[in-house]
Amino acid sequence: MQVWLNMAMSLDGSTSSGGKWSGLSSPRDRQKMDELRAECDGLLIGARTIAVDNPNVNVKASPEKSPVPITICRSTILDPALRFFQGPRKPIVFTSKEPETRSNAEWIVTDSSKLTPVEIVQELSKRKVSRLLLEGGPTLARAFLNANLIDRMYLTIVPWVLFEHNASERIEPRNFKLTSVEQFDQEIFLQYDR
Ligand SMILES: NC(=O)c1ccc[n+]([C@@H]2O[C@H](COP(=O)([O-])OP(=O)(O)OC[C@H]3O[C@@H](n4cnc5c(N)ncnc54)[C@H](OP(=O)(O)O)[C@@H]3O)[C@@H](O)[C@H]2O)c1
Repeated sequence: MQVWLNMAMSLDGSTSSGGKWSGLSSPRDRQKMDELRAECDGLLIGARTIAVDNPNVNVKASPEKSPVPITICRSTILDPALRFFQGPRKPIVFTSKEPETRSNAEWIVTDSSKLTPVEIVQELSKRKVSRLLLEGGPTLARAFLNANLIDRMYLTIVPWVLFEHNASERIEPRNFKLTSVEQFDQEIFLQYDR
């Protein structure tokens, strides 16, 4: 199975503002997200991201291409009204706690020691998921990177300065123009001028 990571970050590398990311992506980035989703058959989103951002989980342009939404949770309570449970495909939830209702998802209840990236990937491979798109958040992304399970990363840098992981306000560097993008070896150097 292949695992792709798609995440966005501000100019200073923050991945949320006031505890959320929603509203910070550009239309182009959202289109790219849609295209990537359409190329994948599994869509893994962190439990906290689902709870705070309430992301949609479909492919907007062609809902029939929507991947199966997947998450992993031990303590997070996921409200059944969340969009995660309302998409065109029945989601898969890996959990260590018996859910109150099983009707809105396929619940895979297992010991919390088995909720590791390696075991999740193995289980999804058995279920014929061939390409998994991981859309964050950073905690889950870090766990998959640490387990050396990411095959490709799509990282979008958006023109906001947040200056902390959970900044309460976003700062748009007005009147700055991106004047240079330079690749040097494996790094990208961005230059903004007024
Ligand atoms: N910039 C972007 O592209 C982007 C994308 C997505 C999200 N975000 C932002 O990221 C923030 C949420 O991210 P987050 O890092 O706090 O949480 P997250 O990665 O969305 O979810 C982490 C949760 O996943 C569960 N989990 C289960 N098994 C795990 C494992 N093996 N390893 C790690 N986690 C596991 C844990 O909850 P349990 O205790 O329930 O198991 C953990 O708290 C939000 O502010 C959101 O807006 C940004």
